[in-house]
Amino acid sequence: MERKKVTVNTVKQMKAKGERLTMLTAYDYPTARKIDEAGIDMILVGDSCAMVVHGHENTLTATMDMMVLHCAAVARACERTMVIADMPFGSFQYGIEETMRNAARFVTEARVDGVKFEATPFHIEKTRAIVDMGIAVMGHVGLHPQSVGALGGLKVQGKSIETARKVMTEALALQEAGAFAIIFEAVPGVLAEYVTKKLDVPTISIGGGPGCSGQLLVTYDVLGMFEAFMPSFAKKYQDFSQLMLDTFKQYRSEVLEGVFPADEHTYKMSDEVMEAIIKEFGPA
Ligand code: KIV
Repeated sequence: MERKKVTVNTVKQMKAKGERLTMLTAYDYPTARKIDEAGIDMILVGDSCAMVVHGHENTLTATMDMMVLHCAAVARACERTMVIADMPFGSFQYGIEETMRNAARFVTEARVDGVKFEATPFHIEKTRAIVDMGIAVMGHVGLHPQSVGALGGLKVQGKSIETARKVMTEALALQEAGAFAIIFEAVPGVLAEYVTKKLDVPTISIGGGPGCSGQLLVTYDVLGMFEAFMPSFAKKYQDFSQLMLDTFKQYRSEVLEGVFPADEHTYKMSDEVMEAIIKEFGPA
């Protein structure tokens, strides 16, 4: 597989050729290394880290400092995979200038390849401003987890005429403002497929069905590492929670039984040095 860095141009070309895009979330260096090695095209350093890594109830507690730290670790790990930083709640809701400064922090401090935020029509000008700065912006329509309070929960979006129209108009506005790709979260498959055909930029589904240009999942769902909540659109490929539990239990019993550490886990020294120590300090 070609190890050339994935850029906005690669993504654009893949959509034009009808090639499917792959994306996963990551929050740390070792996971990002494996995602990069596996040939996944893009990583989202999602604010979902507030929940899956930090144990918070929702994504609203993610901060700029938290996100920059996770983004920097992920970006250091990726040779080919394009890294997108998720702008946390409060980092893009105020003025354009503050939004631009926060987007710039991700590029200068964390060295990511682009940013993503849960932009409503109110934030379209901010999308344009960040693109004008030269930073790649990914849009995000459908379910906005940062709006959990106003939405009354994490629910599928776009099932009524009003909400379907909202998904459509927001996606068109984001494309017009310069977004290079758009995430569709928790929207009916037929709607996501329809909008995908209407747009020039690629669409990335996380609960948007197979008709999008690419797919995204939260890595902790894929690995079965987040037990508190599993959306119906996600697929658990492995049971790392069980594997971790079994491993930690085995370690504990091996320590209790004296099986670990074995000889090969123990540093050696010369008999002469040990004899000299015993001679000086007496037997144990
Ligand atoms: O934070 C995240 O992981 C996200 C995806 C669910 C789109 O924003």
